[in-house]
This record gives sequence, structure tokens and C-alpha cells, in this order.
Amino acid sequence: MMKLPLFLLLISLVTQTSLSEVTISVTPTILQKSGDIVTISWSNVDSPSKLDWLGLYSPPDSPHDHFIGYKFLSSSPSWKSGSGSISLPITNLRSNYSFRIFHWTESEINPKLHDHDHNPLPGTAHLLAESDVVVFEPGHGPEQIHLAYTDVEDEMRVMFVVGDGEERSVKWGERDGEWSRVSVARVVRYEREDMCDAPANGSIGWRDPGWIHDGVMKDLKKGVRYYYQVGSDSKGWSTTQSFVSRNGDSDETIAFLFGDMGTSTPYATFIRTQDESIATMKWILRDIEAIGDKHAFISHIGDISYARGYSWLWDHFFTQVEPVASKVPYHVCIGNHEYDWPLQPWKPDWAYAVYGTDGGGECGGAVHFVYISTETNFVSGSSQYNFIKQDLESVNRSKTPFVVVQGHRPMYTSSNENRDAPMRNKMLEHLEPLFTKNNVTLALWGHGQDWQPIWEPRADHPNDPIFPQPAMSMYRGGEFGYTKLVATKEKLTLTYVGNHDGQIHDMVEILASGEVLSGDDSFGVDGGARTGVVDSTFSWYVKGGKRSCPWGFCGLYSWLRFLFHEEKW
Ligand SMILES: *[C@@H]1O[C@H](CO)[C@@H](O)[C@H](O)[C@H]1NC(C)=O
Ligand SMILES: *[C@@H]1O[C@H](CO)[C@@H](O)[C@H](O)[C@H]1NC(C)=O
Ligand SMILES: *[C@@H]1O[C@H](CO)[C@@H](O)[C@H](O)[C@H]1NC(C)=O
Ligand SMILES: *[C@@H]1O[C@H](CO)[C@@H](O)[C@H](O)[C@H]1NC(C)=O
Ligand SMILES: [Fe+2]
Repeated sequence: MMKLPLFLLLISLVTQTSLSEVTISVTPTILQKSGDIVTISWSNVDSPSKLDWLGLYSPPDSPHDHFIGYKFLSSSPSWKSGSGSISLPITNLRSNYSFRIFHWTESEINPKLHDHDHNPLPGTAHLLAESDVVVFEPGHGPEQIHLAYTDVEDEMRVMFVVGDGEERSVKWGERDGEWSRVSVARVVRYEREDMCDAPANGSIGWRDPGWIHDGVMKDLKKGVRYYYQVGSDSKGWSTTQSFVSRNGDSDETIAFLFGDMGTSTPYATFIRTQDESIATMKWILRDIEAIGDKHAFISHIGDISYARGYSWLWDHFFTQVEPVASKVPYHVCIGNHEYDWPLQPWKPDWAYAVYGTDGGGECGGAVHFVYISTETNFVSGSSQYNFIKQDLESVNRSKTPFVVVQGHRPMYTSSNENRDAPMRNKMLEHLEPLFTKNNVTLALWGHGQDWQPIWEPRADHPNDPIFPQPAMSMYRGGEFGYTKLVATKEKLTLTYVGNHDGQIHDMVEILASGEVLSGDDSFGVDGGARTGVVDSTFSWYVKGGKRSCPWGFCGLYSWLRFLFHEEKW
């Protein structure tokens, strides 16, 4: 028999103990771009609980309860054996990541610690293991690339985000790789002190936003496809992107319109995120690819990312919209989830129930499109009112027959909730007369829960169809989707595309004369049909396919979209 020296025996015992320690590993540890997938594997978890969880941390030295998000280990099929793995895409937050696993049981749930939906936030008392650091390798170019119009027709703005303030440029040309022009981007950033309230200004919600670069491509020909890259020789260039420039001579306008989209995360976090946004972006990308070399743009009518003070959700949002926003200009209008906070300057008495804390401390500050802010003063005499008035009066309707106004909180809504009614009433008092006087064609609103073209007769102009509720809704879609707008000088066509199938569920056409052609009844899918309500009450106004009326109210056709059925605005 071999005699084992004592010290070897001890070593062997130590090894035995360390073998039963929980291990965690992550691969790869070097990533290139947002969306790259990491796999986190663990083993040796003793008496696993279905609440054991994996936390994502960035930067890696964040306190345990300052995670970016979490996933339960029980999402891995083999979790009961004490080992398993989870793969998920990671968004570049311009700092490193690490992953930690914690043991957590139902008896340890703290009812006082919960998210906005009253789901308990995971307990951090028992750390089991922490992974190596995951790094986004430098040199792969800027991220979150998105286009926007400038005030000049032959220009296109491109914005993008990098982790340092060094000089970056945009280079562009009519062919990929033939960069005939280069322009240096302006750079801006914002600081934690710029935020107005928690969580945006606190250590849980705040993350370094990086440097936001803003380049302008100038002297563009009309209606031409341009290729571009952003970045620098020393820090790397993006992959080539392309867009079709504006063409003021074209008789056609194509736009995709929606509100309240939000973003999707592959993990749970402090607030709910919006998986429905994946389908919205998927179908719009399909439609943009289908229109080929025609110019189009996106209009997002408020409540943009639903980050609500958790800054990394903005990184998710811009990463998610990049495939679309790098190809067509992406315009937004302010919503309550970008502004609303207790000390906001615009908070009149009649609006006490309207404005709350929806912004989580974030604040900011052939168709003529006007955006209005329902989050700041719009009553007669305010500077916004004067701006809208002057803008509407300046449109040459022979040249631009259609005017579309877009705002976030609706002027027409069948909701009588105390968060909606005062706003609707003040907008009807101050803005509606301005819109009707200036023959606004269409008003688009977000904020609510569905798709709802509205028409309602009013006491002071009883023959003009703007309906009393509940009959005023011509169509309600309870599902998520978006609107596609195509306008020529003769006709503006709006179609509503549902997220679940990417199909058209409602349609309306408005002629330049103001005449409205009704939607086609064949678009009545999934119970949201132009049903009995339309057939009876609406027949006078809408059925029969055609109806003539003077500009004014007939033309003020208002569409609401509900995106979040569960969410309270
Ligand atoms: C990220 O991790 C790498 C490797 O550990 C390290 O060299 C680098 O300094 C870290 N970056 C930051 C921003 O902390
Ligand atoms: C965040 O803003 C609120 C409201 O202005 C303020 O009371 C609070 O002290 C700020 N928090 C931090 C960490 O600066
Ligand atoms: C309005 O547009 C029409 C058609 O382009 C043009 O003939 C007319 O001169 C314009 N009117 C003004 C006031 O600019
Ligand atoms: C609005 O339309 C009416 C009826 O066609 C017309 O008389 C009026 O001049 C128009 N107003 C504006 C500002 O275009
Ligand atoms: Fe909203």
C-alpha cells in the first residue's frame, strides 16, 4: 500500500472542496458589435431554486442591485441538475460587462422591492459566482446609426454613438466605396446632472451615454441612392449603409407612422419592455425594402423607447431601430414618456391629473407634416400656438395639398379618464379651431391603446362628421401595428398594418379636394372590423364609398393608435 504524505492528502481535500464550488463561464469574452451573442454556463449549483438568477452588470463593478437586467436560471432546461447555460445578445453600452449568479428563494421575496408591474425584484443576498469580464473590442465603428432631415432639402443628417469624444466623420457617394465627399460630425453628450429626477439622475438608472455625433451630408441630388459610412480611420468605420435622398419634385410621399413603440430586451429589468416592437420594425423593414429606390421616412409620434429613466434602454432602442433608421430618416415627436416629471415647467391647474412621472426623470428638451408637443404649453397665445399658427398659414396648398398634424396625447379620444379628458378638452378648445380654419387634412395621435379613426359632429358645425362616442370610432384595432402613408398630389392613402401578420387591416383614402373615400370593408380582420357600428351609424358619412364635403372638418380625419393594451399610457 502506498503511503500518502499528509500534505498531498490536504491538497487533495482542498481540490475536492473547490470542485463543488459553483462555476460560471462566459464565451466569447470579446465582442464586436451590439447584438453579438454570449453564452453564460454554470455548474455545481447546490439545491437549485427556480428563482436562482443570472444578473447582467455593466460596468462590471456595479453593486449587486444595480444590474442592467436579469434572467432566471430556470429558463435553461437543465437547471434542476445544477448546471445549464443561457445565450443572449448583448448591447454595447461602451463599458465592459460581467455576469453574476445568485441563489434566491420564494421565502426571501421582499414585497417592498418590486418593478413597475409589481413583480418582485430579485434578491442579492447570496452571490454564487461572478464571470470574467466581457469586452467590446474597439475599432468596429460607431453604433446606433440613424438618419434625419435637416431644414435644407438637399441634405441628410446622420447621428451615431461612440464611446469617446474624438473626431468622427461621415463619408458618402453614389457607389459603395467611392466616397466623393466627407464631412466632420459635430459631437454632443449629456450628463447625469442634466437629468431632472430619479431614476434617470440616480446610480440605478444612469449610465454613461457616450458621445453622440451628428454629421450632415450635403449637396445631395434628388431621389438618388447614396451610400455612406461613419467613423474615423483611427477608430474604425461602420459597415456601408445607404438611403434614397429626398426629391421635392416627386409627386409622391411615403411615410410609416406609429406611436408608443418602445424597445425589447432579452432579459427582465426594472420596468416592462415591449416585445411587440420587434414585429413593428420587422414589417417596416420589409416595406422599405419593397419600395426599392423610392424615398420614405418614419414618423414616431411620441413615447419613443419607454426607457423612463433607465438609460441603457435608449441604447437598446437605437440598436433595434438601426436597420430601419440607417436607411430612412426617423423623426420623432415628444411624448409623456420622454418628459413628464413632477417639477416640469408646463403644468397648468386643469392638467393636474394629466401629467405625472412617466418620463422617469428624462426631460429635454406632397404633405406638410407638423409636430406639436402635448407636453408643453400649446394654448392660445403660447409661443408653440403661435408657431403652429404661422406654420399652418405658410403652407401653399396648391403646391402641397395635404397637411398632417401629429401630436402625442390625443385631441380625439373615446377615453373619459381623468388623465385624458382635460387634455382632450383643452386641445379641442385651443387647437381644433386652428386646425379646421387651416384645413388640416389629418391629425395623428399616439398615447392610447389602439388604432381608431375618429369622426364626430360638433354643435357649432353639426353637419361635419366628427362622431359622438362611442360610435365615433370607425375602427378599433386592439393589436399593435403601424400606419403606412402614401400621398400623391391627388390622393393620400393611409393603411394600417397589424404586427401579428404584417397584413393591412384598415385603409382610408383622402383626395386633395378634401373628399374622403371610405376604407374597404374587406379589411375587417380579427374582430376589429368596420362592423355594425360602421354599417349603421356611419353609413351616412362613410359608407357608399364616397362622400363630398368642404375642406374643414371632413378633412380633419383623426387616427389614434393604441400600442400597449396592458400599459397604462
Ligand atoms: C474592459 O476590460 C478590459 C480587459 O479586462 C480592460 O483592459 C479595459 O480597460 C476595460 N475597459 C473599461 C472601460 O473598463
Ligand atoms: C435627482 O433629482 C431630484 C429632483 O430634482 C433630486 O431631488 C435628487 O436629489 C436628484 N438625485 C441625485 C442623485 O442627484
Ligand atoms: C403656390 O404654388 C403654386 C403651384 O406651385 C404656384 O404657382 C404659386 O405661385 C404658389 N403661391 C405662392 C404664394 O407662392
Ligand atoms: C379652407 O377650405 C375652404 C373651403 O374649400 C376655403 O374656402 C378656405 O379658403 C380654406 N382655407 C385655407 C386657410 O386654406
Ligand atoms: Fe403616452
